[in-house]
This record gives sequence, structure tokens and C-alpha cells, in this order.
Amino acid sequence: MDDRQYLERYGPWALIAGASEGTGASFARALAEKGFKLVLVSRREAPLDALAAELKAAYGTECVTASIDLSRDDATERMLGTAHGREIGLLILNAGADPNGAMFLDGAIGSWNALALRNVMTTMHALHAFAAPMQARGRGGLILVGSGACYGGLPGIGVYAASKAFGLVLCESLWAELQPHGVDVLSYVLGRTDTPAHRELLNARGMAIPSDLANADAVARLGLERLAHGPVCNWGEADDEAKVSATSAAQRRDRIRQIAAAAAAYARGELMSAAVPADLADKFAITEQLYRYCRSVDRLDVPLGKSIFHDDATVDYGPSGFRGRGHDAIEWICAAHRQLQSHSHQVSNVIITVDGMEAGSEAYVTATLRAVREE
Ligand SMILES: NC(=O)c1ccc[n+]([C@@H]2O[C@H](COP(=O)([O-])OP(=O)(O)OC[C@H]3O[C@@H](n4cnc5c(N)ncnc54)[C@H](OP(=O)(O)O)[C@@H]3O)[C@@H](O)[C@H]2O)c1
Repeated sequence: MDDRQYLERYGPWALIAGASEGTGASFARALAEKGFKLVLVSRREAPLDALAAELKAAYGTECVTASIDLSRDDATERMLGTAHGREIGLLILNAGADPNGAMFLDGAIGSWNALALRNVMTTMHALHAFAAPMQARGRGGLILVGSGACYGGLPGIGVYAASKAFGLVLCESLWAELQPHGVDVLSYVLGRTDTPAHRELLNARGMAIPSDLANADAVARLGLERLAHGPVCNWGEADDEAKVSATSAAQRRDRIRQIAAAAAAYARGELMSAAVPADLADKFAITEQLYRYCRSVDRLDVPLGKSIFHDDATVDYGPSGFRGRGHDAIEWICAAHRQLQSHSHQVSNVIITVDGMEAGSEAYVTATLRAVREE
């Protein structure tokens, strides 16, 4: 999609909540370059005004700025007031970091409340308010900036992680609901990124600034690019990769499609049993094990490979292959693949039958192996 098509699909105005610095300001710069007009929101007026002046000078961008605290009950109402009369085709909810960096009981309940209000309640209200006119127009985009913390809890980030999980799941649902109406939704899951807020947190904890922080401009550019390929983009991972994310963006997309199709068919009365979606979930879980198997071999990741077998599981690869425990098979396979120059395994044509607690599956595995030939 070139800049003109992008602007037609998601313009003419974008509202960025949390725009004054870091990834928020980077989104603003990237959109200004594409020709968007911008509503810039955060608490501090001075950096917003400086950004607006910079974008006007560089691109002639029309900007409106508003100082709004997203942790307050009236935040969405105030954003709507600021946007009034302007066609917001793209909403980016960027603000969302945890400035506390504390264990749950060490943090004051008031600070957790502010975090939850901003990341949960304002997120929900703003998505509801700004998505409705997009649905009516049949076009638009919603980006919620998330975090890898959404994939599970850890000490010291409980409320933050839970709020990011809320955002992820809401975005996935909205993606399925709004895509038929021409509105794209992306939960953009970031890793450690070089932003002033993140540097401040590291400094406050006396920690060194790591050299591998993601660049905020690069992060913003990729987010805009992946908006049409939601519902999830995990920074640093390809669409079909699962590293920090545990399940790849592609797997999450497939899962939503399968369950949504089953639920729609069920609602049409085509499926007589409520057990069918559960059946689909079982099939998806089995398919995921097949993917994990291939991934473990390609990455030579023995723990990942072992994780797909129960302790007492056995495998039988025929008389010339391996016969024995699943865990030992993974050691054997990874050792064999270590000798190769490169290897790639793809699963397709998966057929699964589930019968109560029993299941059987059949699949093609296409293996591309490259070895150095000894002359
Ligand atoms: N940086 C990372 O390493 C990292 C890692 C994973 C995910 N993320 C995600 O990336 C997003 C951006 O993170 P960040 O590091 O730049 O920190 P951030 O504090 O979420 O974002 C900074 C921007 O949000 C604004 N903001 C913060 N709280 C606000 C509030 N209550 N009301 C209005 N505006 C508010 C700030 O401006 P004002 O101070 O002027 O209000 C600033 O413009 C977040 O959603 C975060 O969860 C970041």
C-alpha cells in the first residue's frame, strides 16, 4: 500500500494517545510523512506543542494538541471533544507503560488504579467511541500498543501484564468483529524499546541501558505496516514465529478464524452440538503440537521438542529410523540435523479425528534439507 492508499484507507485524521515522546511521537512523524492530519494527546502540553511545530515545519502537517490524562474517567469524552468535527480514520492508543516497577503489595493501590483506568477502562471506552464511526464509514484502523507482558504474569508487573492481556484479547475480538466492516485492528505487542519512559524506569532502578533496545522509529513504521495484517504483531518475531509470544501471530489468527467460523455456524443452527467448538479447540491444540515439533527441529530446540511429548510417550519412525521414547527421539533428531547445512520443515494437509479422550492425526511434513556433499 503506498502512502496515498494508506491515507485513503485510514485518513484523513489520526488520533494518537500518548504522542509526546517515544513510540507515540514516532507514530506521529511517520504518519505526518504520509500526509495525515494529527490529533496529539498526552498530559504534558509543551512536548506536544513542540512536536506539532516540528511536523508543521517539516511536512505542513495540521495538528491539534490536547493535554488529557488518560487515567481519568473523562478521558475519552475529552478526546472526543478535541476530535469533534474531524474524521478520525486511525486511532493509536500508545500510552500504557507501568511507571511503578513494583511488586503488587509494595505499590499504592491508587497507582494501580490509575494504571488500570488508563490501560483498561480508557482503552475500552476509546475503542468503543472511535470505532463506531469507522464501522459506519466502512473503513479505518485501530492500533493498541501492547507488551510481551500480555502473554503471562511475572513478579513486579502484575497489574501491567493483566491490563495488556485485556488489550490483546479485546483487540483480537474486535479484529474479528470489525474486519467485515473494513476496519483493521492491531494489537501491537512490543518488546524492550528505546523510549524516554523506559530509560527513566531503568535509571530509577539503577540499571544500565541495554544496547539491544528496539528503535522507536522502526517500531512505529512496522506497526503502521502491519495494521492491515492483524490482529497481532509481535515485535521482533515473524508472523509465524513464537518466541516470547508462546503462540505466533499466525496461530492466534487461525484460532480466531476457526472458532469464529464454528460459532457463526452454530448460531445459524448448522451445528447441533455445543461440543463442536470444543472439538475445534482440541484440533487446534493438536495442530499446534505439530507446528511445535517442526519448529523445535528447525531451531534445534531440544526442550521445546521434548515439551510436546509426555514422559512415557513413544515414537516409531520405522525400522531404519528411531524407535523409543519421544524425549530420546528429539535428542536423536536434533543431533542428526546439527550435521546439516540448513533445514526447514513444513506441516500441511493435517487431518485430525477426535473421539472423546482419544485423537488421531495424519499430516504431511515437507522437509527441505541441505547437506554438504563429501567429494
Ligand atoms: N518502552 C518499552 O520498552 C516498552 C516495552 C513493551 C511495551 N511498551 C509499550 O509501548 C507503549 C509506549 O511505552 P513508553 O515506554 O513510551 O511509555 P508510556 O509512558 O506508555 O508512553 C509515553 C507516552 O504516553 C504518555 N502518557 C503516559 N501516561 C499518560 C496518561 N496517563 N495520560 C496521557 N498520556 C500519557 C506520555 O506523555 P505524558 O507524560 O506527557 O503524558 C508519552 O507521550 C506503552 O503502551 C508500553 O506499554 C513499551
